[in-house]
Amino acid sequence: MIDFYSDTKTRPSRAMREAMLDAPVGDEQKGEDPTTLALEEQVADLLGNEAAVFLPSGTMCNEIALRVWMKPGETLIGDRACHIITSEGGAPAALAGAMVHPIDTAEGIFDAEEVRRVITPGSRYASGTRLVCVEQTFNLKGGVVWPVEKLDAVAAAAHEAGLHTHMDGARLMNAVVASGIGAARHCAGYDSVWIDFTKGLGAPVGAVLAGSRAFIDEAWRLKQQMGGAMRQSGVVAAMCLYALDHNVERLAEDHELATELAQRLADLPRISAINTPQTNLVFLDIDETGPTADEVVDACFARGVQIGAFGPRRLRLVTHLDVQRSDLGPLKDALSAAMA
Ligand SMILES: Cc1ncc(COP(=O)(O)O)c(C=O)c1O
Repeated sequence: MIDFYSDTKTRPSRAMREAMLDAPVGDEQKGEDPTTLALEEQVADLLGNEAAVFLPSGTMCNEIALRVWMKPGETLIGDRACHIITSEGGAPAALAGAMVHPIDTAEGIFDAEEVRRVITPGSRYASGTRLVCVEQTFNLKGGVVWPVEKLDAVAAAAHEAGLHTHMDGARLMNAVVASGIGAARHCAGYDSVWIDFTKGLGAPVGAVLAGSRAFIDEAWRLKQQMGGAMRQSGVVAAMCLYALDHNVERLAEDHELATELAQRLADLPRISAINTPQTNLVFLDIDETGPTADEVVDACFARGVQIGAFGPRRLRLVTHLDVQRSDLGPLKDALSAAMA
C-alpha cells in the first residue's frame, strides 16, 4: 500500500525505535520519568514557554487548553473548519461546555479586524467570548501557513479585549520549516500552544502542550482528571526526542514532494481545483461529471494507493516520511484510472 492519506500514517523507523531502548524511565504521573521531563523542557524552550506537559494526543492538548481557559457557557472563536470545531467529537461542548463562534475564511486565516468584529462581551443574555484559537498550519484549507504578523495582530486584538489565545500547532514545525521563522516567534502571542509528534515528525504517540507555569499546573490537574497521566512514558518520549533531533529539517522534503505532486496531478481529467501547497497537504477538487470523492478513494485503494475524501468532491493527499518521489507515478496512474 502506498499511503498518501495522512502524515499520521508514518511508522517509527528502526533508529527511532532504538532510541527508546536505553531511555531512562520512571513514574511519569509522579514527575519521575527523566526522559519525559527532558522532552517537556526541550519543547518548552523551543516554544519560548515556561513549562510544558506531555500528553497522549493533540486532541487532548486542545481540549485541556479549552478547559483551562474557559468556563462552561463561554465562547471560543476559530475558523469553521478548524480541528477543534470539526474533528474532536464535540469535545468543546462536552468537556469544556464551550459555545463556538465559527469564522468563515478562504484559507483558515482571519485578521484582527474580524476578531474585534465578532467578540461579544458577556452579559445576562449573551455568552461572552473568552478564547481565540488558531491552527498553524491550517489543515483543511491545504496546510496554509499563517504569516507571523497576522498571528501577532490576532493575538494582540484578543488580549486587548481580555481574551486568551490558543494555538493548535499540530503542524507548527511544518510552518517553521516552510517560513524559516523559529517556532517561538510563531506562537509568541499565544497563551498556550502545542506540537504533535505523530504527524510529519514520525513518532507513534505523543504531543506536548506548553504555556506558563500556572497554565501547566492547571493542565496537569486536568490531565490527571481525564486519565491522561502515564507511567514509564519515557519509552515514547524518547522517540519524540529522536523526532526533534532528526525529523524536523527533513519536513522540507515533504513540502517539495507536495509541490511536485500538485504539479504532476494538475493535468488529470476532471480536476476543477488544486491548491499550491505551502507545506505537505494537497487538496484536489473533482468536478461533478465523474465519480465522487468516495468512489475515487475506493478505486485508488483497489490499486494499492490510499488517499482521503474530505467532502463529496474533495480529495486530500499528504506527503510524509513514508512516501517518496517514486510513489508519484503509481499515485497518478491510480487517480487517472479512478477518474476515468
Ligand atoms: C490541525 C490538527 N489539530 C489537531 C489534531 C489532533 O491531533 P491528534 O491526532 O494527535 O489527536 C490534528 C490531527 O490530525 C490536526 O490535523
